[in-house]
Amino acid sequence: MHVLICGGAGYVGSHMAKCLSVAGHEVTVLDNLRTGHREAVKWGDLAVADLLDERALSLIFSRTQFDAVMHFSALSLVGESVTMPYEYYATNVTGTVNLLRAMRARDVRRLVFSSTAAVYGQPQSPLIDEDHPKLPMSPYGASKLMVERVLSDAAAAYGLRSAALRYFNAAGASADGDIGEAHHPETHLIPNVLRSVLGQGGRLKVFGGDYTTPDGTCVRDYVHVDDLADAHLRALHYLNGHDGAHAFNLGNGQGFSVREVIATVQRVTGCDVPFEMGARRSGDPAVLVAASAKAKTELGWEPRHSGLDTIIESAWRWHSNPAF
Ligand code: UFG
Repeated sequence: MHVLICGGAGYVGSHMAKCLSVAGHEVTVLDNLRTGHREAVKWGDLAVADLLDERALSLIFSRTQFDAVMHFSALSLVGESVTMPYEYYATNVTGTVNLLRAMRARDVRRLVFSSTAAVYGQPQSPLIDEDHPKLPMSPYGASKLMVERVLSDAAAAYGLRSAALRYFNAAGASADGDIGEAHHPETHLIPNVLRSVLGQGGRLKVFGGDYTTPDGTCVRDYVHVDDLADAHLRALHYLNGHDGAHAFNLGNGQGFSVREVIATVQRVTGCDVPFEMGARRSGDPAVLVAASAKAKTELGWEPRHSGLDTIIESAWRWHSNPAF
């Protein structure tokens, strides 16, 4: 297959390009390089374009007949989305509609879409499955949920087959250290813990120690980026035999608190983590843990690299010596 990866210069997208390439598929990356990295595109060609540029999109689709599209391009910071919602809806929703139109014009009928646990909002049960109420608390989560709705409508109107994969906390890096997580600015917990160990960015600030969790800090479900990539590949195969718009949670089903992450980093790196307790960050639910039974049953997916030690070992290798 020849797969177009929108956002393939970004964190999850670049691991996807590697995974598809290793599985013997051809890859083209489309990325505007606003948050992605040219150096992360090591598998397949790079087309530098923005999804808001319909003419550029049409040109890219006219040059190659893609068999499927994987779509990772998005603005994805929860806090930022609250302060600049127009940019989030334009990039995430309008950009995706442009992509879908370009696909339709060339009769490309399969899409795997990067969605998020942020579509659920405040958890109403300890484990979140796909039927959990969807009440996003941020424009970011709302924009992803809107796209999911567009995908359902596109299935009914045009026969588009799609899978929306709702990630919990993507983490870790490629085992051989050639690609990894490189956000500027970095807001995510595991990179920030490692940066504090490396003396970059000052002491880690822990956002809130007064949650109703066993140690008072927030609990999250960390899933290795290579496990996410594997799930996308499985979802693509799934669409060969399934009409319609589908959604799957991707998490490992086990929660770890911020303090547990810090303790694991101390153990794995053998270094102290300089940190201080701070105020809660607005919009953070106390606990977010996925029920991923549907992905396991229907996609045959099993997270293989998502033990917290494995995640942190791979992230540590990357952050100690990042290639970009
Ligand atoms: N945290 C800190 N200090 C930091 C960074 C994070 O204490 O420097 C805490 C956060 O408050 C949170 C936990 O660590 O409790 C994890 O935070 P991340 O920013 O790493 O991840 P989030 O759970 O906030 O966000 C993730 C994805 C989003 C997605 C969201 C779903 O990154 O894309 O889950 O709610 F929208």
